[in-house]
Amino acid sequence: MIEEEVRTPAAVRDAQRWTAHNYHPLPVVVSSAEGAWVTDVDGRRYLDCLAGYSALNFGHRHPKLVEAAHAQLDRLTLTSRAFSHDRFADFCRELSQLCGKELVLPMNTGAEAVETGIKVARKWGYRVKGVAAEQANIVVAEGNFHGRTTTIVSFSTDEDARADFGPYTPGFRCVAYGDLDALTAAIDENTVAVLLEPIQGEQGVIVPPAGYLPGVRRICTERNVLLLADEIQSGLGRTGTTFACEHEDVVPDMYLLGKALGGGIVPVSAVAADAGVLGVLQPGQHGSTFGGNPLAAAVATEVVRLLATGEFQRRSAELGARLHAKLQALVGRGLLAVRGRGLWAGLDIDPALMSGREASERLMTRGVLAKDTHGSTIRLAPPLVITEEELDHAVAQLAAILAE
Ligand SMILES: Cc1ncc(COP(=O)(O)O)c(C=O)c1O
Repeated sequence: MIEEEVRTPAAVRDAQRWTAHNYHPLPVVVSSAEGAWVTDVDGRRYLDCLAGYSALNFGHRHPKLVEAAHAQLDRLTLTSRAFSHDRFADFCRELSQLCGKELVLPMNTGAEAVETGIKVARKWGYRVKGVAAEQANIVVAEGNFHGRTTTIVSFSTDEDARADFGPYTPGFRCVAYGDLDALTAAIDENTVAVLLEPIQGEQGVIVPPAGYLPGVRRICTERNVLLLADEIQSGLGRTGTTFACEHEDVVPDMYLLGKALGGGIVPVSAVAADAGVLGVLQPGQHGSTFGGNPLAAAVATEVVRLLATGEFQRRSAELGARLHAKLQALVGRGLLAVRGRGLWAGLDIDPALMSGREASERLMTRGVLAKDTHGSTIRLAPPLVITEEELDHAVAQLAAILAE
């Protein structure tokens, strides 16, 4: 149990005072962190079982990532893309190789990677596929979460994310996630891409039925449509493989990456695809002042090197099996269902017991940080550096709040 709070109430108030209320955070104010643990302004320690929605896959302040950032801070931090810099080529080459693609295009946030994917797919449609001007459409899935820009919320099915932000960007068709027949029916000669999360994170860690992703791959190939895999939350080790698509041996035409690519230090996102796709962009058609900057490239190169060892994917697979076995044992004992892969789980708590919000608050008072998504669903996504004992501790706290 955590001790008395002294500074927290005022710090929570102050954190709300000067900002738009576009989040409803748990009442914890973190002041330092290391590995899987964070410490708040009152000196209380919590096990971080959210890991910045997968942005902290390597834990807080991973020594190699901090070292890379420090070294780069002392040398060169920003050039813009008006000039090149000496960290750019290695980053792009190593990330391309990790993805098995010919090219990458670095941006900053996940939403920017998604926007990049949409622009590239449309341009590919007009210039390569031969779609008539202004007619391109992209098929997306119900329950999607791809970010918060006006175009992206245009095809969200979450009213909180979408309502009052119109007029909406046209050119998207939304079909049920997991339904291949609906997907097939939505595709026509003007379809340039299918944009999907291989596992829907925000929706509650929804794993599609077996065979769905290979089916989508087959249909996209048959109909000359690009498959864009949004691996911003599912990728980079989270599910026990580098990419969640690998579980079903699916290779998309484009990976959309973000979150963990920045090592929990700087925002780094990217899209990766072959030259026949990404090569459609010419100077002046897309970009970002900060995309691929030296500091971002230095940290992200180290992230790619950590992933190239395979250690984090292995940890996620092994510890994930342990996590899921323990969570399954709680089904019928306060949990209605558990989904997920690797160190990633969506838990449906019996709503008769408590809401997801209440569950995350109760976990917080027991020193474990997790966050609700919808209704009574909470998501566990601990850093991949978490130990077996720490993981067991987190599940024990969950079992305890379900039995309270
Ligand atoms: C699958 C997916 N795509 C895109 C995004 C957007 O990323 P960002 O918040 O960095 O813009 C998120 C964020 O949660 C995500 O989970």
